[in-house]
Amino acid sequence: MSLTQEIAKRKTFGIIAHPDAGKTTLTEKLLLFGGAIQEAGAVKSNKIKKGATSDFMEIERQRGISVATSVLAFEYKGRKINILDTPGHKDFAEDTYRTLTAVDSVIVVVDVAKGVEEQTEKLVQVCRMRNIPMIVFINKLDREGKDAFDLLDEVEQKLGLTVVPLSLPIGMGSDFQGIYNIWEDNIQLFLEEKKQKVGESVKFDDINDPKIDEAIGKKAAETLREELELIQSVYPQFNREDYMNGDQQPVFFGSALNNFGVRELLDAFIEIAPMPQPKETEERIVKPEEKDFTGFIFKIHANMDPKHRDRLAFVKIVSGTFKKNENYLLVREGKKMKFSSPNAFFADKKEIVDESFPGDIVGLHDTGNFRIGDTLTAGEKIQFKGIPSFSPEHFRYINNEDPLKAKQLAKGIDQLMDEGVAQLFTLDMNGRKIIGTVGALQFEVIQYRLEHEYGAKCTYEPLSIHKACWIEADEKSDEFKEFARLKQRFMAKDKYGQSVFLADSAFTIHMTQEKFPNVKLHFISEFKHLKE
Ligand code: G4P
Repeated sequence: MSLTQEIAKRKTFGIIAHPDAGKTTLTEKLLLFGGAIQEAGAVKSNKIKKGATSDFMEIERQRGISVATSVLAFEYKGRKINILDTPGHKDFAEDTYRTLTAVDSVIVVVDVAKGVEEQTEKLVQVCRMRNIPMIVFINKLDREGKDAFDLLDEVEQKLGLTVVPLSLPIGMGSDFQGIYNIWEDNIQLFLEEKKQKVGESVKFDDINDPKIDEAIGKKAAETLREELELIQSVYPQFNREDYMNGDQQPVFFGSALNNFGVRELLDAFIEIAPMPQPKETEERIVKPEEKDFTGFIFKIHANMDPKHRDRLAFVKIVSGTFKKNENYLLVREGKKMKFSSPNAFFADKKEIVDESFPGDIVGLHDTGNFRIGDTLTAGEKIQFKGIPSFSPEHFRYINNEDPLKAKQLAKGIDQLMDEGVAQLFTLDMNGRKIIGTVGALQFEVIQYRLEHEYGAKCTYEPLSIHKACWIEADEKSDEFKEFARLKQRFMAKDKYGQSVFLADSAFTIHMTQEKFPNVKLHFISEFKHLKE
């Protein structure tokens, strides 16, 4: 198969959802359709159980599962589908944001009863910033939930999307009878006893077929016809280009648990979802069909066992063919590297592979060379854009507990930050180190890992900071100098040497912006490339 054919075959995407909306269940059903697993229950949930926030066994268990489910690949109708796992737990949101830099599209799962929830809102916002094509799947139709049209409104308003329903539920909860598939123009009736299995459903090709009245009742059939008319008059027609540009989002309804509406979703997905897309570097745009390999690291997973301190770096291939034992350039270090055992991921295993193609993810064993956001190429010196850091939510001073272990502590902190576990800020004034995290859980993870993997003990000291703001300003201007003088106690550098203002409250940010209008404050590190 030629490189172009390999690229055209691939669809790499992520499923995003608020915890419990049904992401794991949907993933599993997609794998069932792909024949990648044989029965339900095979995909382990990577959820952190409620109340397990300080249980390290639980964290370790979760980490083990999360590497197993990081990438799930399967073939369906001649396509190769790569699902990238995105943790729903908010303490791991940063991980999810980074994974979203490696997907070409996403499916957003919404619970029919709960509607749009907080985590969904945040993740969709990130996708919108990047114009990632999105399909919405409204799940759990077998349960009582919100009215379909109210939900479509909610999705539009809360998520800022332009929805195009491509299916419509017939009834809901105990009255749920099936789905009208607008995409394929047919009806699938819900046969509850087929639960958990990929079952055949009854199809009708014409909405005026009197057999529909027989099947779902006269009243439901009339309502359906009216609702379809309403859809036609209120919502825009599906337009692939608009979907690809992130200007329009198709919506499907179903029940992942009951395997209902999932095949319709998958069939539409493989037809409309984008194949691997070109990606911007600081220097130029890289196209997937270019002969030479390029890729970037979006995730690093460390082995917590101190005896095997190796890490697995996840590389998204952007262009060319990645080959085993070939020399590649780690651009940041100017270092040539060869990989004798690159892992490719499948639904239930990982395997060493000779070749991988754009859209694929390969796992490379690493002894500490890589950093999240690194670019690997066949030799060209380019740097992929767009692995941003978001302002952490929690901040603490980190102190060394054992003066004899200062080196180990510094190394440990450095490596954990490379993995993206948390962010490190160094105060300009006195060089004190501050750790910033998305969730409180990470502080415990860091303390535990520093001790067990690096033999270094740390303590924390509370610090009242509201947000880290990356600064965009003319550093030679009087305005910036005055700002820096007034705020010197709060000025810091991030890991990459970028200037950051650690604001203690939303009010401070507001006042600072008013007083220093030319000193722009951003809550995201890559403000140059992204719309906030
Ligand atoms: P997540 O990965 O998004 O966090 O959600 P997950 O798939 O684990 O689903 C959360 C809960 O919702 C699970 O129940 C799951 O069985 C249920 N669920 C998923 N899809 C549907 C659906 O279409 N209809 C209904 N009624 N339920 C659905 P649980 O009780 O938390 O877990 P389990 O004991 O069933 O595994």
